Amino acid sequence: MGVALAWHGATAETLHVATPATSMVLEATEGRPLKFVYYGDRLADADVAMLEASGAKPVDAYPVYGLTSHRETAMSVTHPDGNMTLDLAVAGVKESEDPDGARVLTVSMADKYYPFGVDINYRTYPDADVIETWAEAVNNGKGTVILREFASGFLPIRRDDVYLTSFYGTWANEGRVSERPLQHGMTVIKNKDGARNSHTAHAEVMFSLDGRPQEHSGRTIGAALCYSGNYRLRIDTGDSDVHEFYAGINEDNSAYRLARGERFVTPPLALTYSDEGKGGVSRNFHRWGRDHRLAHGKDLRKILLNSWEGVYFDINEEGMAQMMHDIADMGGELFVMDDGWFGVKYPRNNDSTSLGDWTVDTTKLPSGIAGLCATAKKNGIRFGIWIEPEMTNTLSELYEAHPEYVIKPSHRDAVQGRGGTQLVLDMANPKVQDLVFHVVDTLMTNYPEIDYIKWDSNAPIMNHGSQYLSADNQSHLVIDFHRGLAKTLDRIRAKYPDVTIQACASGGGRANWGVMPWFDEFWVSDNTDAVQRVYMQWGTSHFFPAIAMASHISASPNHQTHRIISLKYRTDVAMSGRLGMEIQPKDMTAEEKDQTRRAIADYKKIRPVVQQGDLYRLLSPYDGKGAASLMYVSPDKNEAVYYWWRLNNDINPQLPRVPMAGLDPDATYTVHELNRIDNEPLPFEGKSFTGRYLMANGLEMPETHKVDYHKLNDYSSRVLQLIKK
Ligand code: DGJ
Repeated sequence: MGVALAWHGATAETLHVATPATSMVLEATEGRPLKFVYYGDRLADADVAMLEASGAKPVDAYPVYGLTSHRETAMSVTHPDGNMTLDLAVAGVKESEDPDGARVLTVSMADKYYPFGVDINYRTYPDADVIETWAEAVNNGKGTVILREFASGFLPIRRDDVYLTSFYGTWANEGRVSERPLQHGMTVIKNKDGARNSHTAHAEVMFSLDGRPQEHSGRTIGAALCYSGNYRLRIDTGDSDVHEFYAGINEDNSAYRLARGERFVTPPLALTYSDEGKGGVSRNFHRWGRDHRLAHGKDLRKILLNSWEGVYFDINEEGMAQMMHDIADMGGELFVMDDGWFGVKYPRNNDSTSLGDWTVDTTKLPSGIAGLCATAKKNGIRFGIWIEPEMTNTLSELYEAHPEYVIKPSHRDAVQGRGGTQLVLDMANPKVQDLVFHVVDTLMTNYPEIDYIKWDSNAPIMNHGSQYLSADNQSHLVIDFHRGLAKTLDRIRAKYPDVTIQACASGGGRANWGVMPWFDEFWVSDNTDAVQRVYMQWGTSHFFPAIAMASHISASPNHQTHRIISLKYRTDVAMSGRLGMEIQPKDMTAEEKDQTRRAIADYKKIRPVVQQGDLYRLLSPYDGKGAASLMYVSPDKNEAVYYWWRLNNDINPQLPRVPMAGLDPDATYTVHELNRIDNEPLPFEGKSFTGRYLMANGLEMPETHKVDYHKLNDYSSRVLQLIKK
């Protein structure tokens, strides 16, 4: 189902932008602004026709500044003659279809006086309940127009008991959930890091229209700004009947000078609606993402060992070979060599040198990358490598040769980042784009066996100044950085469509749908503590599917929190995302390796359900009930996997029994515990229950594990596989 369009030319027409289960209705009248009428459940044509009769009050679909200026606006400009007003009216509507069946409805609006236009676009897919909307501003005049505000989209949300779900955090504590009623005043969620955009806040929000957010019920809207750079989401609750929601690039210090003939395309704002609560919104986003946005969203991911927490910068051939052997021996499929492998004049032994010098350090790795690829092959696994190509250090051959490539203001020394020497390369500069492309191209040409790239980014844009952009266009810096990044990634993907690429940015700094067309996954956080991961992964799962969330078993005590957590628990948390390891296997005992080997074998059985299934969040860690639980159900409901993690170690804590969700009520499922460590099976091991019973009652999770006394510890978790009989 795409766009059902009723446009016959010059008169008022109703535009019905439809997905299988949702409708957006707009009104386009030539000579008047485009109006928004409705967004929600899918409407029958008869109901579309009756919307106005039902009392719906159309509002501007893309409010602009200047003539009715008392509200927030989506766009404001200064024309070449200094006039600061816009007066847009519909000039035409057209529809097009992409080769993959996606349909785009474009409503063109033109200013009534100035040669300036804005196209508002709506993209739908036949099989996804997401509408992507974005705006394109066109300067058809002779002079330069200054864009001061340029939102991707606007959505009015009828006032009622509306709650906002948003995400906050910081480095090593990303993706925390915040839920609050929308009250009078303005809520702003924003990012100004410059390079990365999801440590401190996320560009995704949900609106629960029926009061306090629920997982399985309640009308809920989800919105995600798909962009790699600075963003600003605004919700203004003023004197009107609606909460006014605007989302787009953050215009702070980024006014854009639109040259004659130039078109400014904003990033898409993806919207969904579900009456199945937050869970319904998440599932809509996950499906759309896997099917239409995430690189290789339909392919299962390999189980990997990443070298970072195992050896940090201490890279050497013997160590890499040992890690490859160990991960292969435990059933893993890929080894990724992290930071520390490069630099000739300045060997990368810590974080203060060498970024930009992507030549292998043969004192550490005498047989080079080729040798590592050969060792991986010998072990029957694939090889991956870490790079941070948008960056350099002042201590590097690249910086010595090209100081003009870094972002820095004129007449001032640049403030330096990580390691006291890190600087950001000016991706606005085509020569830098070329350089970054060649980092990947050289690696992939020389070592076509490379299967995976971990693409890191560990510094914000702190110094406002481009040595490439003209004096007039300095305010374009951050926008042009991200355009340059996009161009470079397009080029890389055109030549290397198959390589897996992880978006890492000091942990979870690039968890945004804007980068996902080029990346297969992202690193959720530099914090691998399993308990804290339950909270972070919970938040992140609101918009991102498990297949995209890299989740690794790490050491105990944990390197970030120093918490001592059982291997069983660490594994059970990692198994709920894209499973990997971030550990020195040679420090594991034979028993721990055995346990991990069994867990990896178990994960392989459930990998399709975790990575392609529908997520049902069951018991929130944020509810303070002492445990958290979620499950994945295969789209045909034949299989499911259930996770349960305790969150405190109180004795006799009176934990709730957690009803399941998403199963076929009439089917019977047999339960089997995975990654089992108990001496005795659970009472329901191998037993069968109807989906109806499981969804009404769940199963009792014992508070602790039945293990030998010396193995008792304060963590307890369960993973259950459910297979339809
Ligand atoms: C930050 C990343 O998040 C880590 O996983 C690791 O790759 C380091 N950078 C390496 O410097």
